[in-house]
Parts: sequence; C-alpha cells; structure tokens
Amino acid sequence: MNSKSIPSPSVDTEGHPINAHGGGILHHDGSYYWYGECRPPGPASQNALIGISCYSSADLIAWKNEGVVLSVIKDDDSHPLAAGCTVERPKAVYCAHTGKFVLWWHHDLKGWGHAGALAGVATSDSPTGPFTFIRTLKPNWRMFRDCTLFVDDDSSGWLVYASDDNATLVINRLSDDYLEPTPIAYRAFSGRFMEAPCIFKYDARYYLIASDCTAWHPNEARSASAPSLAGPWLEHGNPCLGPGAEITYGAQSTYVLPHPRNPGEFIFMADRWVPERMEDSSYLWLPLTFRQTVPIQPARPLISPPQD
Ligand code: DGJ
Repeated sequence: MNSKSIPSPSVDTEGHPINAHGGGILHHDGSYYWYGECRPPGPASQNALIGISCYSSADLIAWKNEGVVLSVIKDDDSHPLAAGCTVERPKAVYCAHTGKFVLWWHHDLKGWGHAGALAGVATSDSPTGPFTFIRTLKPNWRMFRDCTLFVDDDSSGWLVYASDDNATLVINRLSDDYLEPTPIAYRAFSGRFMEAPCIFKYDARYYLIASDCTAWHPNEARSASAPSLAGPWLEHGNPCLGPGAEITYGAQSTYVLPHPRNPGEFIFMADRWVPERMEDSSYLWLPLTFRQTVPIQPARPLISPPQD
C-alpha cells in the first residue's frame, strides 16, 4: 500500500466530521493518535471554546473519537484556559524518560487575539488524556506562535516555533521531561516569516516544511534541510508539484508523518481553512517523496498534487 492509499480523512468511525485542526500525529505502541484544535460551530470558532481533541487509529484510515483531552475552562475568566482563549497547533509526544505524554500548543489569553504569543504545556499518563494543564510561558522570554514538536533518534525533545512576530523560527531543545525549554535554542530563517512548521528526518538529515505568513489564506509552501537542527539550513523551494502548487492546493502544512509501510515515503498533512466557519475546515493528506534534483545537493522533498 503506498501513501496514495491513505486518503485525506474526513469522518470518524461514527460518521461524524473529524474535528482536529492544525494538529499532529503521535505514533505510540502501534497506534496513531491525532491531536488537534476542536473547533466549535459558528462565527466565534476562531477562539477556543472547547479545547484540544484526540482521535486514535491503527491504520491512519479509521479514526475513533477519543474526545476532548484538554478542555477550556468555562467558569473562571481568570484562568489562562478560560473559554474564548486561543489554542492553536497542538502537538503531543511521548517522553520515554518519564513515561508521560506531553502536549504543547500556541496559546493566547482570552481577549488577546494573537498578541500575547505564548506557549501552553500539559501532560498526561495516557495518550488519550485527560491532559493536566501545567502553564503558559514564553520560552526563553521569546514570542511563541505556530509550533511543532520533534523527538530525535537520541530521545532529545525539540520545540520548533515561530518567534520575533513570526519573522524567525526558533529550534529549542527541551528538558529531559520535555516540559521546559532549555537555553539551547537555534534561530533559523530570520526574516523569512515561516509559519506552520513541520520537522522530520530522512536519510540522517533534518527536513522542514513550512508555510508563508498570510493569516488563514493559503500560500506557497517552503522546504529546507540541514545536517543538524543547529543548521546550516539549505532552502529547497516550494515542495508542491502540479496544479495549485503555488497555494499548496488551498491548504497549509501542519505535520509530516513517515509512511507506515513505505520507507522513504511520508504523508504531508495540511488544513484547508474555512475562516468564517472554522469547523468546516477540511484535511488534505498527500504523498511526500524525495528526489535529488540538483547534483551534489541533498535530496529535496516533493509533494504530489491531490488526485481529486
Ligand atoms: C496562520 C497560522 O498558521 C494559524 O495557526 C493561525 O494563527 C492564523 N495564522 C491566524 O491568522
């Protein structure tokens, strides 16, 4: 089965639309867990009125709704998670050092829009939660917005996020329990305004797929690679092929997952946002493969266009 046979998901095992936007996948103990923004219906859906959802699957095709694993707080406006706050781009990883599951996301307090630029962090003993809120913070006192998590082969945990008002990506080593940023932080792509970062590894090299910075409107994706998370990063240009490549087929990156059966293949996961009705935003999952297009340069990632 190649990645073309893993279709873009839409409904869960009960036939309900999957509600897990801007999310990421954790592969743990043979199961996949998809964490995302649980968007409410109606015009206020750009705020967090529910929390972070989780779906589980054995095959990346049948998704079981595991419910809301981190809920907003509806009866205390002084709480950072007060309903109406901003919770975006949740990503979760398993910490082998502690045996716990760790969730990070971009957070903004109720009424702050995106001005606060905070990170949120929570933890759980189970991949299906419930997650216990720990705190919001600015890692190393830096602005924090779009983000992703990456666990390297040596079990080091890394938090990658848009900072400096989205102008720069920061690649921040986490503590051994993945709950704290350490002072080890690399700044990359200064002035390039990369959002929606995805970090993955291929052929012992680190790869990044990200978007440009145009609010909820689709734009041209970017790709880059480096021999180390410290860099130096080499940009490879737009990874998308075919019609619609210039606007990422109307979608924005959110995660890249190794294909379960095809070594060297990945699944590029993206969101087709509907800003006026966020709960109607859909998912676009496409095959990502590698090809050496420039002699002496590393192989570059290439995303196949949708077949629809
Ligand atoms: C683009 C980001 O990728 C989203 O997570 C969200 O913050 C929107 N911008 C808000 O305009």
